[in-house]
Amino acid sequence: MSDPWKITIPESFTLWKYDFHLFDFRFSALLSANDASLTNLSETEQERAAKFRRRIDRNRFVVGRNILRQSLAAVLNLSPVDVPLRVEKGRPFLDSAKAEACYFNLSHSGNSVLVILSPKYQVGIDVEVLREFSDMDQVAKRVMTNHEFDQYMDLESACRADAFYRLWVRKESILKCMGTGFGIEPNRIWVGHDQKPDSEVDFEGQRFILQQHLFSGPESPHYWAFAYNGSARPVTLKTYRITSDFL
Ligand SMILES: CC(C)(COP(=O)(O)OP(=O)(O)OC[C@H]1O[C@@H](n2cnc3c(N)ncnc32)[C@H](O)[C@@H]1OP(=O)(O)O)[C@@H](O)C(=O)NCCC(=O)NCCS
Repeated sequence: MSDPWKITIPESFTLWKYDFHLFDFRFSALLSANDASLTNLSETEQERAAKFRRRIDRNRFVVGRNILRQSLAAVLNLSPVDVPLRVEKGRPFLDSAKAEACYFNLSHSGNSVLVILSPKYQVGIDVEVLREFSDMDQVAKRVMTNHEFDQYMDLESACRADAFYRLWVRKESILKCMGTGFGIEPNRIWVGHDQKPDSEVDFEGQRFILQQHLFSGPESPHYWAFAYNGSARPVTLKTYRITSDFL
């Protein structure tokens, strides 16, 4: 019987053809009710998968690593389980000998897993499903610069969640591009409430280009952004909607 979780990377995927490749996976209700298969994961990843208490968290992790290993396997001409990944501060990298063969990052939230690869640019990605929560203004005060927060508070309260998530994914994608995650306080980076699809941010002597997007999930909108190091614009982005036999 075929594996219902079998994820297939499209044959058209060729790393050097585009600056960025985005693998976009969405869980269906049927998939979410089952455990994702551990095929292609390393022993360490399988041990980590076993430690998740909630199925959805486990599935997001397993699917993310599965897509990552399969796409990198196509780049390196290896089998997915043999892709040499090491993890530093939570971030997976290719082992040093292969480190510059491909840059990548991944993010998961709600029913979505996004994996981004680039032959040229160090990259960070973040996706967040919109969820209203009662102390959003207090969290906003902690993660925004003073000026960003003043602009946020000037908005009608009905518009604040949209502004919060747009700004959040932009900040987090920069922090993930740098590899520190929240090891750096997000209120130190100014990204502003700009709604342009792309913009530039200078931080700690580095220039980041940000691209931001929004898509509608079955329940709520998903906000996502990616940030890359450098000043080149425009860049090419190829998106692959990944499906499994269950979808
Ligand atoms: C990285 C971080 C921002 C992710 O937050 P999140 O919104 O919960 O998760 P996302 O779904 O967007 O991203 C998770 C993925 O990002 C990647 N990741 C983890 N740590 C990362 C880092 N430091 N930089 C870039 N990417 C990272 C991983 O692939 C991870 O998924 P996986 O473990 O399933 O493979 C957060 O976990 C963090 O800040 N971690 C680092 C904190 C830390 O170690 N600080 C110590 C001092 S530097």
